[in-house]
Amino acid sequence: MAKQILVTGGTGFIGSHTVVELQQAGFDVVIVDSLINSKEETVDNIEKITKIRPKFECFDLADREKVHAFFKKYTSIEAIIHFAALKAVGESVHKPLEYYRNNLNALMNLLECMKEYNVKNFVFSSSCTVYGQPDKLPVTETTPRKPAESPYGNTKAVAEDIMRDFTVANADADMKCLALRYFNPIGAHPSALIGESPVGVPNNLVPYITQTAAGIREQLSIFGDDYNTPDGTPIRDYINVVDLAKAHVVAINRLIEKKNKANYEFFNIGTGNGYSVMELVKAFEASTGVKLNYKVVGRRAGDIEKIWADTTYANNELGWKAETPIGETLLSAWNWEKRVRGIK
Ligand code: UD1
Repeated sequence: MAKQILVTGGTGFIGSHTVVELQQAGFDVVIVDSLINSKEETVDNIEKITKIRPKFECFDLADREKVHAFFKKYTSIEAIIHFAALKAVGESVHKPLEYYRNNLNALMNLLECMKEYNVKNFVFSSSCTVYGQPDKLPVTETTPRKPAESPYGNTKAVAEDIMRDFTVANADADMKCLALRYFNPIGAHPSALIGESPVGVPNNLVPYITQTAAGIREQLSIFGDDYNTPDGTPIRDYINVVDLAKAHVVAINRLIEKKNKANYEFFNIGTGNGYSVMELVKAFEASTGVKLNYKVVGRRAGDIEKIWADTTYANNELGWKAETPIGETLLSAWNWEKRVRGIK
């Protein structure tokens, strides 16, 4: 029988792509999502891609009673992938309690239920934000974490500590947690049926680019060109969302097959290549043939200068590698935006 995986936040950007990859790898998926930042029609679109409808439950994971009720109903969950979280860096500065309450209560409710209902495997969405501005690049898993720059970032760091402590306290029960530290996920499924749908004005670069290209935003603001980088704009490691989704399938198999080396593990999930904002804009124009209206403005508060991953450990230990070229990834984001907006 197919192994059942709970995917929280499964109608969100990374979650929906992971549901597709899990189903295509033969897993039976149950999604839990509160739909505060995503739409139920994503479930239909997942079904269109895979021809399998994932089970779907709509509730808030910060509600402890509801999480317990879920595990009483679904008694054969083999593993959990926990995406559901608030993720707007700027908003978290203004609403710290909302971020801590949402992100940490949901995590603790799930871990508590893991123990109570004997689910042994947990994969968590962490972020390269835990490294802050590293002293040395690229960042390996032994690069020290730095104090978080925002409440959002801190929820990721604290979540990692909670998982570490939880696995230590429950080592006898063989409870396992694995954190994937994502760099900058971008792009969309090649079918253009699922992708990134920010609510309101996008905070992140690629949705802002595609919405500008689609004429929804007048102009892209490039936040600063006076950084210590070759063209002065900040550098990030942009990873294709389908490649990223596949890393979750590998992580789940690692835990289920007990190939893990410790009960708490973490991996950098990036490409190993850094692109500046300006390079990304140029790559978008080159791969789509669309000219972007952009202007360099002042720096955005809280931005770091440069970061990219050393992926050696993830490549060797997980046997996983990001494969999609940046141009293809940017084109997939554009094709998704065009489909959503009805642009031919
Ligand atoms: C941030 C978080 C990351 C989080 C991600 C998702 C940090 C250090 N990083 O990534 O943990 O997972 O958001 O929400 O907290 N840019 C522009 N114009 C725009 C938008 C962005 O020039 O309109 C630039 C930014 O200055 C930055 C780059 O594009 O240099 C990427 O920005 P963004 O997509 O927001 O991601 P991060 O800030 O790297």
